[in-house]
Amino acid sequence: MRYRKLGRTNFEVSDIGFGAWGIGGKQWLGSDDAAALDSLRRSIELGVNLIDTALAYGDGHSEQLVGQVVGETGRKIYVATKVPPMNRIWPARGTIEEVYPYDYIVRSAEESLKNLRLEAIDLLQLHVWSADWVARDEWRRAFEDLKRSGKVRGVGISATEHDPDSALGIIETGLIDAVQVIYNLFDQTPELNLFPLARKRNIGILARVPLDEGALSGHFSETTTFPEGDFRAWYFRGTRRREVVDHVDALKRDLGSDASIPDTALRFCLSNAAVSTVIPGMRTRAHAESNIALSDQGPLPAETLSLLKRHAWPRNYYT
Ligand SMILES: NC(=O)c1ccc[n+]([C@@H]2O[C@H](COP(=O)([O-])OP(=O)(O)OC[C@H]3O[C@@H](n4cnc5c(N)ncnc54)[C@H](OP(=O)(O)O)[C@@H]3O)[C@@H](O)[C@H]2O)c1
Repeated sequence: MRYRKLGRTNFEVSDIGFGAWGIGGKQWLGSDDAAALDSLRRSIELGVNLIDTALAYGDGHSEQLVGQVVGETGRKIYVATKVPPMNRIWPARGTIEEVYPYDYIVRSAEESLKNLRLEAIDLLQLHVWSADWVARDEWRRAFEDLKRSGKVRGVGISATEHDPDSALGIIETGLIDAVQVIYNLFDQTPELNLFPLARKRNIGILARVPLDEGALSGHFSETTTFPEGDFRAWYFRGTRRREVVDHVDALKRDLGSDASIPDTALRFCLSNAAVSTVIPGMRTRAHAESNIALSDQGPLPAETLSLLKRHAWPRNYYT
């Protein structure tokens, strides 16, 4: 496993981190706690030392599973979690009074600490963000007070879906340590403005949704179905599965039949030096093992990266 510095923090984080949305269940049906715990433990054994969770993932269930495993390991594991929007609307909608009042941010961090059974959260992120809030006092004071109290070590935001530039203004305040952003071979837009600024200001980058919610899993087809109520049944609704298959087929034609789609997708993210850690969801030991093995392979060759540039696919399935 290779490690990278998370921006200006002194955290040396594994470049493959553990995305813990799916293990929360609820929005990802078919999750199994025993398999999730096994996958978390195996990931740590193989060198993963950053886990990204959120209070909203299964209403605290993901945090509780993470807390259980972090508590039993003797190793330092960096835990990143998130404050859900108070009005529970994704992406951000409403005024800061409706979404992130000061008291609410502090209360939410304390609830996460209980779920995680930790004394401190390594990275507390606002789960939604609006550029309109940059100058507001609520988040600044909450972050400052939580840091001062020792309950939080680093702070950041999760940038709006497919709008990495939503994070530029808050980076310029100098008050955050990291940004979590959608970055995958379909959405390469963070490379335009966010990554150069993050490098200049020494801001950590967590590359989320590296497999495009499973579209880049390599076993996605037009007849793939998800149980009713599963987030992916909504995300891949209507004609979207056909669109995905068309784009993945084009990718396969260019890469050749030997190439693994998920391996290429994850190595694409690892190839960018602005990325501190890539956080695939991996609810099973098998996925954890194959993803973690990619860390040691390093960046993709330049010719593959230039070929992948042609596969950028601007769209937003989150709306
Ligand atoms: N707004 C936000 O802040 C936000 C939003 C979304 C996600 N996130 C974070 O980003 C993380 C990653 O995103 P995600 O989990 O939504 O989606 P993702 O990582 O793009 O895709 C996860 C899917 O890919 C499958 N997969 C993983 N490794 C694979 C492999 N080697 N081969 C084939 N399939 C593989 C997973 O299988 P399994 O079914 O085995 O897990 C799962 O179905 C989340 O867990 C969360 O921590 C944050």
